[in-house]
Amino acid sequence: MKTKVVIIGAGPSGLLLGQLLQRQGIDNVILERVTPDYVLGRIRAGVLEQGFADLLRAAGAGERMDQEGEVHDGVEIAVDGKRTHIDFKKLTGGKSVIVYGQTELTRDLMEARENSNQISYYEAQNVTPHEIEGELPFVSFEHDGKKHKIQCDYIAGCDGYHGISRKSIPREHITEYEEIYPGGWLGLLSETPPVNPELVYVRHERGFALCSMRSQTRSRYYIQVGADEMVEDWSDERFWQELKRRLPDDLAEKLITGPSIEKSIAPMRSFVVEPMQYGCLFLLGDAAHIVPPTGAKGLNTAASDVHALYSILSKVYNEGRTDLIDTYSERCLRRVWNGQRFSWWMTNLLHKFPGTSAFEEKIHSSELEYYLNTEEGRRIIAEQYVGLPYDEA
Ligand code: APR
Ligand code: PHB
Repeated sequence: MKTKVVIIGAGPSGLLLGQLLQRQGIDNVILERVTPDYVLGRIRAGVLEQGFADLLRAAGAGERMDQEGEVHDGVEIAVDGKRTHIDFKKLTGGKSVIVYGQTELTRDLMEARENSNQISYYEAQNVTPHEIEGELPFVSFEHDGKKHKIQCDYIAGCDGYHGISRKSIPREHITEYEEIYPGGWLGLLSETPPVNPELVYVRHERGFALCSMRSQTRSRYYIQVGADEMVEDWSDERFWQELKRRLPDDLAEKLITGPSIEKSIAPMRSFVVEPMQYGCLFLLGDAAHIVPPTGAKGLNTAASDVHALYSILSKVYNEGRTDLIDTYSERCLRRVWNGQRFSWWMTNLLHKFPGTSAFEEKIHSSELEYYLNTEEGRRIIAEQYVGLPYDEA
């Protein structure tokens, strides 16, 4: 079998890249380790920057997002009970974000791929890149008990943090940067109306909280918990009581609680690998970087990697611009580190981590005071949150 690009992983990165390449006439094959239902079962954030929404539309998978997604013109940050509105429209010259669950956009991309008759192998085992520095790279894998080999020009590693792609690069050629935060996010999904029309990020002495949503009838809430906490120790009742204690009084009074339909704890970590390419292998999304969810940058930074590689490969195949191949990593990392910094900054300012000195606490309070109480400060937050423009190839 032969194709131009083998994409390892059918999460948001792999599916979005596959669709965009196909619409440029660049054939590709996706190899995914698990079943479609397993991929769809992952509950993840769903705040889309405008650039991501535009890519989904360009991929022919934006229709349901435009129908069902919610456009948000702002977000709130509450510090010790005082709520501050960050007005995206006013502060960024009209930009906004779309709230639309990752599960839904993944489903839309899967449907678009099925309709495009592109080849995808789910439950592909032992996917292995070969000759990634050579002239004739290929990927081997097993499916339905048979061994397969796909010759290709390029390999897109969209296989997440635990995938095979990053591990296929010789260790001496990569540098990994990591920061582990001493806590996690306990998230609860409920069929209840959101407590507020926009997201509310909460800094409280008991710890961080976030009020988010999936629709007008489905809410997503988070509270910061200790790194060693177990979800089994958190009944729904305990969760709701703790959330109410952290919310500003007027929100706590309005909060409508209900049974959880999903509840889990996610660790918080920052991670970046450099470079994001080696030979014909490119790393995208969680395969190359992880952010704490505070800035809603995980999905959006993955999308900007996809935009970079899709733009480059379109010019390679349609204009012969092979000189652009080696620009991928540097181009992605500029935006990756910007997203890392914003996520790190939001995380440290809004969480109460053990081991933070009283002096650091005062510095965090003063920094938040400056950013929230000045238009310049609110503009910086707004511009970062809605997303900086993508670089063009
Ligand atoms: N072979 C084939 N597929 C693999 C392998 C492998 N060896 N290892 C992992 N995969 C698949 C996983 O099953 C998963 O479906 O690669 C996919 C990677 O998807 P994600 O982990 O969702 O990563 P990505 O597509 O980059 O999306 C990033 O998802 O994890 C969230 O917060 C993250 O929102 C961000 C987004
Ligand atoms: C979510 O809705 O799951 C969500 C929203 C914003 C974040 C993180 C998670 O920053």
